[in-house]
Amino acid sequence: MKEQDQPQKEFFGQPRGLATLFSTEVWERFSYYGMRAILLFYMYFAISKGGLGIDQGTAASIMAIYGSLVYMAGVVGGWLSDRVWGSRKTVFIGGVFIMFGHIALSLPFGQAALYTSIALIVIGTGLLKPNVSDMVGDLYSEGDRRRDAGFNIFVFGINLGAAIAPWAVPFVANLFGHSGNMNFHAGFALAAIGMFIGLVQYYLEGKKYLSDSSLHPKDPIDQQSLKNVVRGSVIGVIAFAVVLGIMAAFHALNIDNIITLITVIAVALPIVYFVIMLRSQKVTKVERSRVRAYIPLFIAAAIFWAIEESGSVVLALFAENRTVLHIGSWNFAASNFQTLNPLFIMILTPLFVWLWNHWKKQPSAPGKFAAGLIFAGLSYVWMALPGILDGTQGRVSPFWLVGSWFIVEIGEMLISPIGLSVTTKLAPKAFRSQMMSMWFLADAAGQAINSQIVKYYSSATEVPYFLAIGAVSIIFGIILVFFVKKIHTLMEGVD
Ligand code: GLN
Ligand code: ALA
Repeated sequence: MKEQDQPQKEFFGQPRGLATLFSTEVWERFSYYGMRAILLFYMYFAISKGGLGIDQGTAASIMAIYGSLVYMAGVVGGWLSDRVWGSRKTVFIGGVFIMFGHIALSLPFGQAALYTSIALIVIGTGLLKPNVSDMVGDLYSEGDRRRDAGFNIFVFGINLGAAIAPWAVPFVANLFGHSGNMNFHAGFALAAIGMFIGLVQYYLEGKKYLSDSSLHPKDPIDQQSLKNVVRGSVIGVIAFAVVLGIMAAFHALNIDNIITLITVIAVALPIVYFVIMLRSQKVTKVERSRVRAYIPLFIAAAIFWAIEESGSVVLALFAENRTVLHIGSWNFAASNFQTLNPLFIMILTPLFVWLWNHWKKQPSAPGKFAAGLIFAGLSYVWMALPGILDGTQGRVSPFWLVGSWFIVEIGEMLISPIGLSVTTKLAPKAFRSQMMSMWFLADAAGQAINSQIVKYYSSATEVPYFLAIGAVSIIFGIILVFFVKKIHTLMEGVD
């Protein structure tokens, strides 16, 4: 009898493989968000304080474009798994890249290590992240009603790892620090150890609890197509190198311009995808209408993620520069605030699961998206208040940040799980897995836009910054309200 034919132990009434993927994701997200919690500070803190001494605006911009690249790389990771390696192997290779990425930062090699690490973690996360989620989906057969609950448990794992790391990683960085400075390298080493634990666990348990089908690509590529893809990729790489070469010739090859170039790609990529899908012969009339309905939802998601993801950049700066870092005798670090986003998700998820199960006349997906955008915008308007009330010179209560994260996480409950499910439902048959990549491209586009605007954030500009971006989100949310019916019609029966 083959392994997966045997009756398996269950995990909260779910297939046992879910526990394996759950732990893998806990550790991977632990390493990612632990690293992100201290990376911004590592980049712009002075060298005398253990940092790299990069200018604050550039450091913020790098954080954002890094996040954008991670989700863009998912397109390649999803493709490699579907056509070449199968998900099991792709995830493992991704984890190895990620671990070495964190190891790079744990070594004292300055900016060279920083860029090496970014490259390794972008590739690694691109390979790992979309495919772990995909494997969760594959644990269930078509009609298995446990699927939604399974995904909720999995998302809980994401946020569990993301919530613990902003305590554990700064703690270790402080433990090994001296004369009041953090030892950032020790913090990054803990992230590497986290990914190592995740990998060992995934390897040992995967053999027992993940199906053999995950070892094979779903849609194996033939020799001819492989040749075409290799040729296309080589042309792409050469084109990119030529652009960099031209930039160098004009003495314009600097970090700012490279970030701008990536921003253009991040915005152009989804546009190209939409055009291909809308023009494809393989897409039926009904499917085409659904793709059209997805366009405003995609734009809404990009605006939402721009605000949500700025939590590790703009709000992190607000925590460091403008916030009182103690409540009574309880002291904490600016990096610890990163725990609030995942913590609120863990608290709010059961409430929203209950709400969607009981609310008879609940709004459709576009309606929820509109509300989500308005909440995201309000979380920013809220952050303008301390500056308006008390000026932007001193430090203010940590509860301003707690409140902002609480508001934006209500928005995340209205957009993230809803978006994931509506993406799968609106996907044309011929573009199923690409459509999943599209969902992550919304995040990538949002963070790419961030990379251009976070440079202008500082204590001096915080009030107009929060008000302007908050207003964009609220206004787009209100416009969306007026189009809910129309979009819903275009969705052709999907709700
Ligand atoms: N924050 C979530 C994660 O890390 C989701 C990101 C997204 O959907 N773009 O998995
Ligand atoms: N909110 C971030 C992601 O879900 C951590 O999930």
